[in-house]
Amino acid sequence: MSSIKVRKICCIGAGYVGGPTMSVIADKCPEIEVKVVDINKERITAWNDTDLNKLPIFEPGLDQIISRTRGRNLFFSSEMEKAISDSDMIFISVNTPTKTKGLGAGQASDLSWVEASARQVAKFAKGHTIVIEKSTLPVRTAQAIKEILNTTNRENQKNEISKTFSVLSNPEFLAEGTAISDLENPDRVLIGGEDPIAINALVNIYLNWVSREKIICTNLWSSELSKLAANAFLAQRISSINSISAFCEATGADIQEVAKAIGTDKRIGNQFLCAGPGFGGSCFKKDILNLVYLSGYFGLPEVANYWNQVVLLNTWQQDRIYKIVLEKLFGTVNGKNIAILGFAFKANTNDTRESPAIRIASDLLEEGALLSIYDPKVSFERVQEDFEEFSFDNQGIWKMANSIPDALKEVDAVLILTDWEEFFGLDWNYLASLMRVPAWIFDTRSVVNRQEIENTGLNLWKLGERS
Ligand code: NAD
Ligand code: UDX
Repeated sequence: MSSIKVRKICCIGAGYVGGPTMSVIADKCPEIEVKVVDINKERITAWNDTDLNKLPIFEPGLDQIISRTRGRNLFFSSEMEKAISDSDMIFISVNTPTKTKGLGAGQASDLSWVEASARQVAKFAKGHTIVIEKSTLPVRTAQAIKEILNTTNRENQKNEISKTFSVLSNPEFLAEGTAISDLENPDRVLIGGEDPIAINALVNIYLNWVSREKIICTNLWSSELSKLAANAFLAQRISSINSISAFCEATGADIQEVAKAIGTDKRIGNQFLCAGPGFGGSCFKKDILNLVYLSGYFGLPEVANYWNQVVLLNTWQQDRIYKIVLEKLFGTVNGKNIAILGFAFKANTNDTRESPAIRIASDLLEEGALLSIYDPKVSFERVQEDFEEFSFDNQGIWKMANSIPDALKEVDAVLILTDWEEFFGLDWNYLASLMRVPAWIFDTRSVVNRQEIENTGLNLWKLGERS
């Protein structure tokens, strides 16, 4: 079999996936030049900032990799045409959010950005180019990409411009907050495709740091579907354990004990069994809804209903937390000060997309609460945007606090929504003295120790435990 030696890679999309993924490829393959391009110029400027604290995304370990590779064989740029035309291999790593309008609105993925990227590749590529789907996409999207590339190619051929394409699917399984270690030591790398030479070229890149047994090659459609299915299975575990958390609260069983007891069964395993305020992040909800849409499209309504329930339960979990806060605070939070600890959808990221904090805080604001929000990595502007998008008739007021004590001053309640390391082991004796009595702690992430809190005289509600 003849082989292709990849010398130049371009990645379209410098987001939470494109940025870290390409940084790791550049780090592990110093002989390959990697260019990451984006239409968002501000984002590119931030990726090029000499102050590594100003990188557009926060991921533990990312700054070190950027300092080793940027300017050596990793480049961030807005010059799409040159980056595409120079490259042997192009990753499409753009956003694929849920459609908000038209057919399939609220479920199907909006592929506008993927299509625009494919058209740019068709226009600017030269010679033979391997085009790789890195974004999470509906099953059979590769067919649409091929059609866009080949149709434009027919026009090129009329003008005697010769270019050819091979399309592969290579979904990304990294989780935010652990992106670098997930990329450096993946459970598996999945490559779907039909062209053995292109598959081999991509396999050879990963072989620089991933062992051959971990590289799974499938057909295109299995690869696309496996990504959606993996996210659906993971999210389903969270909805399952969250449903049991409500059961624990009703019966006196303890969710930590139950999770441990069931997780020690090797067939179940202990990962993704942490009950909490519901899953957030840009992927789970979007990808399950996409699966629901596709199930309907392919005439499988029972399958669609099954997966839709995972999302419904997630929203229910967030709703019931807000209602519990309301109930414990004598049925009203109007004019009451409440601290929110954690706004990111999980620890170790500045990402707030679909964060449970958005819905829960919005509901409290609608009831007239006065919120002071503390998150070690989320900015004021990000929270502001999130509240703007979540339309509500807001009667309450919110502000960002600079520290945990600042957030807790004179509050009637504190609601812990993200499992940031710094929220564990806090000095609650001291913090209780800052709060207004009778004060409540609502712990949705199993962060505090019940005995310790009870010694301070604070009231405690803990998710998955009977009060
Ligand atoms: P993101 O929104 O952070 O980044 C996407 C970037 O693409 C944006 O900066 C946007 O400006 C850019 N873009 C859009 N259209 C473009 C175009 N035509 N030309 C150049 N740039 C363009 O999104 P993300 O979180 O990186 O996710 C990207 C894809 O990866 C999605 O399909 C997502 O489902 C998938 N994914 C995400 C994660 C995650 O943890 N975030 C994990 C696995 C897979
Ligand atoms: C997820 C998938 O894990 C990853 O493989 C895929 O590539 C992208 O989507 P991500 O959303 O970044 O990654 O983070 P993840 O760790 O999966 O957490 C998602 C949400 O579930 C977070 O809100 C997290 O707090 C919540 N979660 C996770 C729980 O509530 N309980 C758990 O046990 C695990």
